[in-house]
Amino acid sequence: MEKLLDGTKFTLGVCYYPEHWPETMWETDLARMLESGIEVIRVAEFAWSLTEPEEGRFTFCFFDRFLDLCQEKGMKVIFGTPTAAPPAWLTKKYPEVLNAHPDGKRLEHGGRRHYNYNSPVYREKTALIVEKLAEHFGGHPAIIGWQIDNELNCEMDEFYSEADHCAFRIFLQDKYRTLEELNRAWGTVFWNQTYTDWEEIILPKRTRSGNPNPHALLDYARFISKSARDFALLQSSILRKYVKKNDFITTNGRFDHLDNHELTKESLDFYTYDSYPDMSYNTDGGRQPSGLRDRESSQSLSEVRSVSPVFGIMEQQSGPNGWTTCMMAPAPKPGQMTLWTMQSIAHGADFVSYFRWRTCTFGTEMYWHGILDYSGRENRRIAELRDIRQKLNLIQEAAGGRYRAEAAVVKDYDNCWDLRIDMWHRDLEAVSQPAIFAAAQKLHTPLDYVYLSEEGTSMPLSSYKVLIYAHPCIMTETRAAVLKEYVAEGGILILGCRSGYKDLDGHCVMQDLPGLLHPLSGADIPEFTRTCPGDSPVRIRWGEKSFEAPVFNDILQPLTEDEEPAETLGIYENCYYAGKGALLCHRYGKGMVYSLGTVFTEELAAAFLEETNVAEPERETLELPESCELSIREKNGSKYYFVLNYSGNPVTVGVKSPLFSLFDSVPVGREMVLEPFGTAVLKKG
Ligand code: GAL
Repeated sequence: MEKLLDGTKFTLGVCYYPEHWPETMWETDLARMLESGIEVIRVAEFAWSLTEPEEGRFTFCFFDRFLDLCQEKGMKVIFGTPTAAPPAWLTKKYPEVLNAHPDGKRLEHGGRRHYNYNSPVYREKTALIVEKLAEHFGGHPAIIGWQIDNELNCEMDEFYSEADHCAFRIFLQDKYRTLEELNRAWGTVFWNQTYTDWEEIILPKRTRSGNPNPHALLDYARFISKSARDFALLQSSILRKYVKKNDFITTNGRFDHLDNHELTKESLDFYTYDSYPDMSYNTDGGRQPSGLRDRESSQSLSEVRSVSPVFGIMEQQSGPNGWTTCMMAPAPKPGQMTLWTMQSIAHGADFVSYFRWRTCTFGTEMYWHGILDYSGRENRRIAELRDIRQKLNLIQEAAGGRYRAEAAVVKDYDNCWDLRIDMWHRDLEAVSQPAIFAAAQKLHTPLDYVYLSEEGTSMPLSSYKVLIYAHPCIMTETRAAVLKEYVAEGGILILGCRSGYKDLDGHCVMQDLPGLLHPLSGADIPEFTRTCPGDSPVRIRWGEKSFEAPVFNDILQPLTEDEEPAETLGIYENCYYAGKGALLCHRYGKGMVYSLGTVFTEELAAAFLEETNVAEPERETLELPESCELSIREKNGSKYYFVLNYSGNPVTVGVKSPLFSLFDSVPVGREMVLEPFGTAVLKKG
C-alpha cells in the first residue's frame, strides 16, 4: 500500500482489539475486514500489560503473532502506544503517577487516563515502553504508522498531582524569571496574593468557592497544554528513531487545554480526529438552538482542518453508542453511517477508520457498538460499510483535494482558554460560535477556522475574503498588526463586542476601547453594558431590518480623529442608548472592518455573510434545501461538491450548471433527488 494520505485515494480502517477476542477468531476477522473494504486497523492503544506484564519484563509474542498474521493477510496496522492506561502494577508501586482531584485526592486505578503527564516516574516508564515497542515493532512490514497515547486530555483535562504542582513552578520560573514579574502578571497585589517564594505557588483551582486568580488560571491552561505537548514529544522523539521511512506518527481526538497546532508541528505528521456525530445531539438532549444536531460535528471537522488541511479520522461512529455509566445514542439509521463518513471526507479526511470492528462483550464500553454486534453475524452496518467502499472507489480522484472556503472564523488559544475562566467572555462565545457556524451551514457557505498566535496564522489570512473574529477579548500588538495587514491588503474583518479589552496576561487594558484595535476598527466605545435578562430585549436597526442584540452591548461611535471616519450602519433601537451606534463600518487601506456592538446571533451572522457577499457562493450552480450541507474540495482545477442530506426525508436539489455525479457516473439533470440521509459527490470542470 502507498502512504496513507498521499492524495491519491480514500482509505478505510477500523479499530480492532485482538486482546478482546480468542486468537482463533483473528484470521476470519481480518479476512472479513479486507473483504469489506477495510485496509488498515488500529491496535494496541490500551495494551500495556500485554507487552510489559510486570515491571521491566517485556514480552512481544502476542503482537508478533498478530502482526505476522496481518502481514500474511495483507492488512496494514497503526500501532498505538499504550500510555493512556497504565498497568495496575505501575500505579500500585508508583502512586505518584496518578492524577489527582483539585483537593489533592489521587485518582484510582480502574478506568483510564488516570495518570499525570509530569510525574518523573511516569515519563521514565513511558519512555521505556515506547522505546521497547518501537525498537521491536518499528521495522515490522505490516505497520504503517503510530498513534501516540489515546485522546490526550480526553475525560480529564485538569491536573492536580504533586508532580504537576512542581512542574507548574518550573513552567512559571521559565516564563517569568523573577517573582516580581509573576506578581505583576498575576496582579497579586489584589487581595494580598503576593508571592515571596516560588514554593508558595500552587496550581490554581477552578472552584467557584475559591474565587481563584484569573491570570493564574490562564497560565494554568497554558501549563496543561505544554505538559500534554511535552508528553507527546517525549514519545514522538523516541518513535522517530525507529519508525520506517514512510511511516507516520499521529494522535487522535481534539480536546480542551491543548494547543493542537503546536502539538502537531512538534510531534505529528498529521492529525487524526474521532468523530461521533450522533453524540452531539443525543447526549446533549438536542439542546443546540441551531437544530443542526449531527451536522454540528462539521464544526469540529472544520477546526481539525485548521491543524491538518488533509487529515484522518481514527474513530468514526458506526453503531449505537453508550457506556454502562453514561451516554446513550441510538443505532445509526440506514444511510447515516454513510452520511457521517461522507461528512468527514467532505471536510478533508482521506482516511476514515471506524470505531470498532465488533462490539466488546464486557467492560464499560460493552454498549458502544461497532460495525458488528456481539455475535459477529452479518448485519445492516457491515452491508453499509461495503457500500461505502464501493462509493469511495468512485470518488478516488477527489482524494487530496483542498477544502475551499471564502470565509473563515478566526480563533486563538489564549481567548479559547480565557473564556473557560471568565464567564463574561464565555457567555459571548457561547452564543456567537454556534450561531456563526449555523448561519454558514444554512446558507450553504463553506467556512474555515484559522488560528492566530504570536508566531503567525495556521493558514495565510489572505486566502479569505472575509474573516469573523467574534470576540478577540485578548489582543496583542503582533496580532493586531497581522489583522491590519490583512485588511490593508483588501480583506474584510468582522469584529464582535468586547474586542481588545484584555492583554495577554488577561488584564483589562487602560486604553480607550477597543484597545489595540482602535485605529483599525475606526470605532470608539465610550460606554458598554451587559444586557439585563429581565428587561425587554435590546434591538438593533440595520437598514430595513431589526435584530436582537442580546448578552452585551458596546455603544459605538466613529473615531473622530480618523481621516476617513467609520460609517454608522446600525443603531440601537431601545434602552437608554437608543439611537447610538451598534454597528460601524470602517474603510482601512483596501479593505473594510465591521464592528458589531453585540454578540452574533444566527440572524446577525447570516446578515454579515450576505452583506459581505460570501453567502451561498455556489448559488449559480446548486439550489439546496436547508437540510443539506455543501462542502467543496478542489483538486487539479476541478471542484468536487459534497452534498449531504441530514434529514430523514428525501430532498430535491436544483442543478443549474453542468455537473457530473461520481456515484452514478452520469451527468446530473436539472434536478437531483437525495434519499433520506443521502449524499452525492458532484464534479465540475
Ligand atoms: C473514544 C476513545 C475510544 C473509545 C470511544 C468510545 O473517545 O478514543 O477509546 O473509548 O471513545 O467510547
